[in-house]
Amino acid sequence: MEWTSLNDLRESYLKFFESKGHLLHKSYSLVPENDKTLLLIVAGMAPLKKYFTGELTPPRRRMTTCQKCIRTNDIENVGYTARHGTFFEMLGNFSFGDYFKEEALPWAWEYLTEVLKIPEEKLWPSVYEKDDEAYSIWKDKIGVREDHIVRLGKEDNFWELGAGACGPCSEIYFDRGEKYGCGKPTCKPGCDCDRYMEIWNNVFSQFESDGEGHYTELKSKNIDTGMGLERLACVMQGVDNMFEVDTIQNILKAISDRAKVKYKDNPKSDVSLRIIADHSRASAFLIGDGVMPSNEGRGYVLRRLLRRACRHGRLLGIEGAFLGDIIEVVAHENLTAYPELTEKLDYIKKIAVMEEERFDATVESGMNVLDQLTAEAKKNGKDKTRN
Ligand code: ALA
Repeated sequence: MEWTSLNDLRESYLKFFESKGHLLHKSYSLVPENDKTLLLIVAGMAPLKKYFTGELTPPRRRMTTCQKCIRTNDIENVGYTARHGTFFEMLGNFSFGDYFKEEALPWAWEYLTEVLKIPEEKLWPSVYEKDDEAYSIWKDKIGVREDHIVRLGKEDNFWELGAGACGPCSEIYFDRGEKYGCGKPTCKPGCDCDRYMEIWNNVFSQFESDGEGHYTELKSKNIDTGMGLERLACVMQGVDNMFEVDTIQNILKAISDRAKVKYKDNPKSDVSLRIIADHSRASAFLIGDGVMPSNEGRGYVLRRLLRRACRHGRLLGIEGAFLGDIIEVVAHENLTAYPELTEKLDYIKKIAVMEEERFDATVESGMNVLDQLTAEAKKNGKDKTRN
């Protein structure tokens, strides 16, 4: 396996599935269209939900995308861990009643082992514990060693996203090596430690969930796959942290130059650098997709991301508006796949900077109020804490 840039990985995946008859569709907007169940797009299949259920007819029964996604449920962890980010891209190949397990699993294996040349012994497939069919495809058709295939329960190997198409899944894990492991003899995919990293999820979407625990069999059997582009890039670039992937590292470098703070000098400032890098990516794409900062819904998600980025900029000692310049680097790093970010750059920067200025003004007026209260407390002799 060879070091491959994030932009080249995206292209190579999409080309591979185009060569298998898939229609390549550019990423859909982060704002769901005609779908009131989702605030933002959180997975590659989300914009395609109605093709899976048969409500709409897809332009082709095989499609492939690299989808922009935002997940904010773990926002508090961003910056503190290697893997959390609010913005990420998900590579996916989809079958709407066309091919099923027999084709999807061998193609996933072919892409990883023949195109990317990841050594087979580094890869571990998992299957839903009752899915003998998937198990035998891995073992007999693809020839994976039996001691490298694991059966896991519904918690790990059944995928659903609220209401809509769902089903059992088969994941592929990458073994990062003993040094990341817990050392227990039972350690294998599914273990809580950092050794086995899930990189690709193949969902056999054959049920429709009503979101309340009721499942009905769909008319057609579908395939929904998802592979995090940044995670794949970590594997291919031999780094264990998404912030060290080439394009994201360049964004982080621009922030550290601006703040005159070196990455990896101090764990506290590293957290701020990572938060700004992640949040400026998310914000640039959200504004590019038409979201405006506000106090509710997706506008509130954007406001929160922008303000957290500003706050961490101030913690690093950056003075004045800086997010516009960082967003320019985000657009540059994404020029090949998302030229629209560069086309709309002036507008995106303007919205970000306006919010940054509003944030500064709010902090300043808050500080004035605080100064006033402190002065009054002092005058009244109430500035000492008493027990
Ligand atoms: N929809 C599946 C996921 O997001 C592939 O993991």
